[in-house]
Amino acid sequence: MCGIFAYCTYLTEKDRKEICDILCTGLQRLEYRGYDSAGIGIDGDTEKDVILFKQVGKVAALRKLITESKVNFGKTFINQVSIAHTRWATHGAPSPINCHPLRSDPTNEFTVIHNGIVTNNNELRLVLQKKGYKFESETDTEVVAVLFKYIWDSQRGTRLDFTTLVKIVVKELEGSFAFVFKSIHFPNEVVTARRGSPLLIGVKTEKKLKIDFVDVEIAGPDVEKGAGLLAPGSSSLGSNFLVPQPAGMTRTQSRAFMSEEGVPQPIEFFIASDASAVVEHTKRVLYLEDDDIAHIIEGELHIHRLRREEGKSSVRAIETLELELAEIMKGKFDHFMQKEIYEQPESVVNTMRGRVNFDTHKITLGGLKAYLPIIRRCRRIVFSACGTSYHSCIATRAIFEELTEIPVSVELASDFLDRKTPIFRDDVCVFVSQSGETADTILAMRYCLERGALCVGVVNTVGSTISRESHCGIHINAGPEIGVASTKAYTSQYIALIMFAIQMSEDRISLTERRKQIIDGLHELPAQISQVLHGDKALQQLAKTVLANSRSLLIMGRGFQYATCLEGALKIKEISYTHSEGILAGELKHGPLALIDGDLPVILVMTRDSLYPKVQSALAQVTARKGQPIIICNEDDLSISKEYRTIRVPQTVDCLQGILNIIPLQLLSYHLAILNGFDVDFPRNLAKSVTTE
Ligand code: M6R
Repeated sequence: MCGIFAYCTYLTEKDRKEICDILCTGLQRLEYRGYDSAGIGIDGDTEKDVILFKQVGKVAALRKLITESKVNFGKTFINQVSIAHTRWATHGAPSPINCHPLRSDPTNEFTVIHNGIVTNNNELRLVLQKKGYKFESETDTEVVAVLFKYIWDSQRGTRLDFTTLVKIVVKELEGSFAFVFKSIHFPNEVVTARRGSPLLIGVKTEKKLKIDFVDVEIAGPDVEKGAGLLAPGSSSLGSNFLVPQPAGMTRTQSRAFMSEEGVPQPIEFFIASDASAVVEHTKRVLYLEDDDIAHIIEGELHIHRLRREEGKSSVRAIETLELELAEIMKGKFDHFMQKEIYEQPESVVNTMRGRVNFDTHKITLGGLKAYLPIIRRCRRIVFSACGTSYHSCIATRAIFEELTEIPVSVELASDFLDRKTPIFRDDVCVFVSQSGETADTILAMRYCLERGALCVGVVNTVGSTISRESHCGIHINAGPEIGVASTKAYTSQYIALIMFAIQMSEDRISLTERRKQIIDGLHELPAQISQVLHGDKALQQLAKTVLANSRSLLIMGRGFQYATCLEGALKIKEISYTHSEGILAGELKHGPLALIDGDLPVILVMTRDSLYPKVQSALAQVTARKGQPIIICNEDDLSISKEYRTIRVPQTVDCLQGILNIIPLQLLSYHLAILNGFDVDFPRNLAKSVTTE
């Protein structure tokens, strides 16, 4: 998905080379989101000049284009604003002309970078074309740049300030977006706006800041009216439970970023789609909320909203990131995905840290505590998620039902919305998402919030939209996941959901033994995951000798292992571009059995649990048709004939076994992608964070 990065300095000397380096590095940190072209817009040699560089392909290619250009890299700036973007094509093919920044006209009066989709762009384009404005790209974003120029041209006599102009423009737009705007009419100023796509602002000063929040300014009635070009859309959002409210602070000059001595100071601002692009510069960040408009001018940060809303916080806290740059770098590994698979012995511990007491067999999830009585009284639990996160819900549904005796349904977020699923006030709706920014999951959550259901977020990314807008929740604490293929987030989501189920059932005496058994199992997991990782070389060999040239692959299992099959198949198709299907073994004779022959590779998940005899029967059905299954089984299972290839994993409690079983499939998919020469961390056509519907 597109990535936004902007850099603004005040009283801080930087030469053009440093600025371009900072921009390109910022974009490189966002590469994991997926993109097909990249561009930057920097100050020119005069205040009325903006220089744009745009390139199709990787940021490295953009960097080369910049380095080889004839611009004066030695020119220094005391104050400046520069913008940068990675584009994931939605409107118009990847090309330099469609690449951001988009501009209002050939003199670059207004330049814009954008994440999201402006859904009424066609209508706006027609209106602007009728008024004589010209377009050079196929993008929805260019409409916004041209709209700026139209409003600026038509209200020139009134000398609008930059924020008012942005407010008027934004009022005309429908869809979801995060924008950063730059203009030659407002040198050294930058304005950003978000609705539905994340944005944060990092603040870097040499001296300690006097304040740790910025208060919100509300628009006057003139802006409320908008320009009236088209009927504008509007959005309303749910509650905010995670942003800390500043205690006992005054609001005086909260926007000015004075030093503790109370004087203006040199300052740098970094605007980005996510913290990975900012963390190497500063850990002090402020997350913008939907419908916020932030204006940076002369070292001050102003946050505006179009209208006052009941129950909305009137401050934005400046938070301290806990992310280390090392955490998002590859270290000794060749790829982020590989690193993240290998991090799992540690990431699962981080998910449990401070929450599981292995001596007393108690679970305490701080983010849910206050809501547990309501959750326990609910009529049903509805899980909603996409992709891998959806699979973690499938994986834990049975144990939720067993421990809570409450009916649980698991919904693909997009389908849930398409069906307009009935939701009631006494439902508990759980939204699982690594990024916390997946558009379908956010929309499903807002749908449930509107219907009065209690909304629980299970997310990895602190400060993300789902973590802020849900009523309560669990951070899975897996650490940053950069590879597009989700790996460690899956195992951590799985554990977070198991902990959730256990905590819900803690008042049921009859289940004490079962809870104890699972908690003991959780205790063993990190060492068992390490043991599975030791099998990596053998898996690499298996990928090379047996699977590398296959065009299709079936993965079968049942019960708790159905989710393992779905997730394993997703991993294989998304990074090795090999067709793969996860099949519930009970369904075999209802259709998929027709596919089985001596050539089609089949992986059978056959670890020991109560369904083992039934999976044995699936094995018999496959081998009777000359199938040559590879069997994922427990290390001490001697009942499996030596004629079959096996992948051996340690045995754990039935409901946790999927955590161990998925790891060989993650590793196999990784090796298959490498063997086929594919870009593991950036698979074609995919993005890490899917922030559009
Ligand atoms: O950030 P989320 O967990 O909400 O993302 C949901 C899916 O887009 C994601 O899990 C996707 O399926 C992964 N790339 C799969 O590896």
